[in-house]
Amino acid sequence: MTDNTTKHDTEAGAGPNERVIGTPSSAESDAIVAGAADPHPQREHDGPYPASETHKHSEEEQRRGEKVASLWFTIAFLAGVGFIVAFFVFPPEAIADPQIGQYSTMALGGTLALSLFGIGAGMTVWARRVMPHYEVSSPYDELPSPPEEKRSFGEFFMKGADESGFTKRPLMRRTLLLAMAPLGIAPIVLLRDTGPLPGDKLKHTMWEQGMHMVAEGTHRRLRAEDLENEPGGMISALPYVEPTPEHPHGLSLNEQAKTSVILIKMPENDWKPGMTQQQLNWTYNNIVAYSKICTHVGCPAALYERTTHRILCPCHQSTFDAADGAKVIFGPAHRPLPQLPISVDDEGYLIANGDFPTAVGPTFWDAEKGD
Ligand code: FES
Repeated sequence: MTDNTTKHDTEAGAGPNERVIGTPSSAESDAIVAGAADPHPQREHDGPYPASETHKHSEEEQRRGEKVASLWFTIAFLAGVGFIVAFFVFPPEAIADPQIGQYSTMALGGTLALSLFGIGAGMTVWARRVMPHYEVSSPYDELPSPPEEKRSFGEFFMKGADESGFTKRPLMRRTLLLAMAPLGIAPIVLLRDTGPLPGDKLKHTMWEQGMHMVAEGTHRRLRAEDLENEPGGMISALPYVEPTPEHPHGLSLNEQAKTSVILIKMPENDWKPGMTQQQLNWTYNNIVAYSKICTHVGCPAALYERTTHRILCPCHQSTFDAADGAKVIFGPAHRPLPQLPISVDDEGYLIANGDFPTAVGPTFWDAEKGD
């Protein structure tokens, strides 16, 4: 509050420790610095300043200020609504076009700037045309503040709130709240940019009953014999999907990343007792298929030690036991590699018997989807 028309100082003779809020005139400054008597001794006071002494503007001027401030708040509200409308007028597919994207940016930026400017302008008008203006000076005190000062501050604060017109001037108050409402909603609207909700996509892959398995890299359909001839061997496999011009191997990179499995031929008597009957039923002729995506943070877990049946992820050394349902035996992962149920078709080609029973890849809050 920087108006010089009214000056309030503390007790006459306040010394150099006096704090001045506002800009005193040079004569007043000299007097304070020199420890001289208060130049306005008749304005000594305790606590809040009476409104009659401090209001600079007449009631008429304040009313005009209220209207102008409310007008700015209304403009801010309309601009805030415009921001939300602009957000939906330009959907993500449309703004992929650079030209439309430019219009979208201008519309969003312009409406948001106008909304913020309107609130700022309204508050400035409020402070300058409605609130009282005066200078305040008071002596520095030792901390903590004595109870009288705390009480005085409380009274002063309440008085200030009253004088600000926030409670007394409903038009201005309501239009300010109205102007801020769209900005409050804007962050919620912006959540749309985080993309559509994943639904249960994270819990499923494109593996389904009867899908053939092909060798990763050669894209050759796999038969059980491809592994039977080398017990303890391992092959990386993917589902067979008809190639398209866009995806010569039939799968997008994203689909490959989710569906990749390792096929392991286990010597008959090496299964551990931890394997459930259901897990054994998901194997075919001691060939087992596990997700290749590490359940820690998703690296390909494709290093296999055939003598110990350990699957190792090279990223952080998580180790899984292929003979025991790919349970974690070392490292930061804490979920087994999901097992894919497999079988063969009439011609002996390896096929999936459905999707993974649990979500593949890095663990997330809701990774277990049950049977
Ligand atoms: S990603 Fe496999 S251990 Fe970290």
